[in-house]
Amino acid sequence: MTEEHTASPVSLTTDGHTTIRAPLPGDAATLIAGRDTQFNLFMGEGSADPQPSACIIADGQVVGWTDYDPDLNCLESGEVNIGYNLFPTYRGKGHASRAVQLLIHHLALDGMHDTAVFLIRKDNKASLALAERLGFEHTGGEGENIRFKKSLPSLTYTDGIVTIRRRQLTDLDEDLTAKDNEQ
Ligand SMILES: CC(C)(COP(=O)(O)OP(=O)(O)OC[C@H]1O[C@@H](n2cnc3c(N)ncnc32)[C@H](O)[C@@H]1OP(=O)(O)O)[C@@H](O)C(=O)NCCC(=O)NCCS
Repeated sequence: MTEEHTASPVSLTTDGHTTIRAPLPGDAATLIAGRDTQFNLFMGEGSADPQPSACIIADGQVVGWTDYDPDLNCLESGEVNIGYNLFPTYRGKGHASRAVQLLIHHLALDGMHDTAVFLIRKDNKASLALAERLGFEHTGGEGENIRFKKSLPSLTYTDGIVTIRRRQLTDLDEDLTAKDNEQ
């Protein structure tokens, strides 16, 4: 996982404690300044121009990033890899777990993927704890990493007879046709 990915932009989304939003001009320098030895140990040198899916905001400031990437070779169809980093002074407050939950919400609304995947180094205790906290399932090894996955919420519910799902663009046409037929 890198700090680079461009796909559908993440709208400003918050749970009241932690917020995520698409990066703005100037954020790249802040993200670079926020790197520390833990970042380098587990994520390498990092990009010279980080453009993650979302910055993590707390106390009105950028405090890290989270990113999703559906293009890694090790992923199966429908899977998307999620990564994250928090600046050191903002760790231990729940912001990473909450930001990933918000990104999962974005991915669920986006409807393009069905499974979130983490690839976490075996010695990255804080990240392993995050995977457990968010209820990800341990699904084996991937080189020096442990692989975790969790289904994204489908946002479709059915009792076998009636189904409710999110609106689609074509629904408007069908609604108008039904009204025409009534008149
Ligand atoms: C991985 C990483 C993001 C985890 O950060 P973290 O701060 O431990 O994770 P969270 O932000 O979710 O915080 C969880 C902690 O905050 C606590 N917490 C405090 N207030 C909280 C709140 N309001 N809501 C939720 N949790 C809260 C939790 O109890 C937990 O504490 P614990 O670790 O003592 O159990 C961080 O270590 C990091 O940036 N590492 C370097 C980059 C990296 O390794 N990325 C992942 C590569 S796979």
